Amino acid sequence: MSQQVDWAGWLQRWDDQQAGYLPDREEQFGLMLDVVERLVGEPGRFVDLACGPGSISARAAKRFPQADIIGVDLDPFLQEIARQAVATERVRFAEANLRITGWDAVLGEDPVDAVCSATALHWLDPEDLEAVAQTLAQRIRPGGVFLNADTMRLGPDEVPRLDALAVALRDEIWAESHAQGVEDWQTWWEAAAAEPAFAELLAEREARFADRWRGREITLTDTIQSFRKAGFTEVAVLGQVADKHLFAAIR
Ligand SMILES: C[S@@+](CC[C@H](N)C(=O)[O-])C[C@H]1O[C@@H](n2cnc3c(N)ncnc32)[C@H](O)[C@@H]1O
Repeated sequence: MSQQVDWAGWLQRWDDQQAGYLPDREEQFGLMLDVVERLVGEPGRFVDLACGPGSISARAAKRFPQADIIGVDLDPFLQEIARQAVATERVRFAEANLRITGWDAVLGEDPVDAVCSATALHWLDPEDLEAVAQTLAQRIRPGGVFLNADTMRLGPDEVPRLDALAVALRDEIWAESHAQGVEDWQTWWEAAAAEPAFAELLAEREARFADRWRGREITLTDTIQSFRKAGFTEVAVLGQVADKHLFAAIR
């Protein structure tokens, strides 16, 4: 299969598509790695959480050539792109479901220095996020860092007008990207579905996400509270556009 498929091309197409949803995605990734570097130096062990096809892993590998990088995700198709387009001796990818306790077994024994994630943890429900924060608190060494660039609602119950405003601003940003011709999520997945070589992996993906939870969306408050409760010593927002936040937590 790997001979016929342009894996790097699919990764690039993914990056282009995702940039429609996360304004300044490339800059955000750069900033995340800057923060890692400033807080922990060159990490020995770096985790790309819910890594998709490995976009952060690829950038982390360039920035931190000595780091051992592990990308974790449930999607077997996106993981295959990551394996084919990004994996090296120092960069590996593992399949795990963040909603199931014990997912962190794929990280091995040693503590990790930094965990980064983007546009992914909003797929979890607030209870899942709390559990993930607890797990990360056990896995990240003291002084290590967690960074997440993702949608975190301001809170329809807490600040209804500001929450609605942030969502409206977010929707305008998306609409503008797509009006300018950036491919959207659905079109990307339809294109993947049209590629016969991907059929098996996409069927497996479908099965794994059959019970994808769609309930209350994670808020910024959920995130801050989860990481404080888990024992992270400092938590803060380092950047925000509409409902997208760059959240940082030091263990
Ligand atoms: C929008 S993609 C973002 C991927 C990547 N972080 C990026 O920025 O390109 C969301 C990712 O979260 C992953 N994901 C969602 N729920 C998950 C779960 N329960 N366990 C592991 N990964 C999950 C999906 O498979 C998908 O790869």
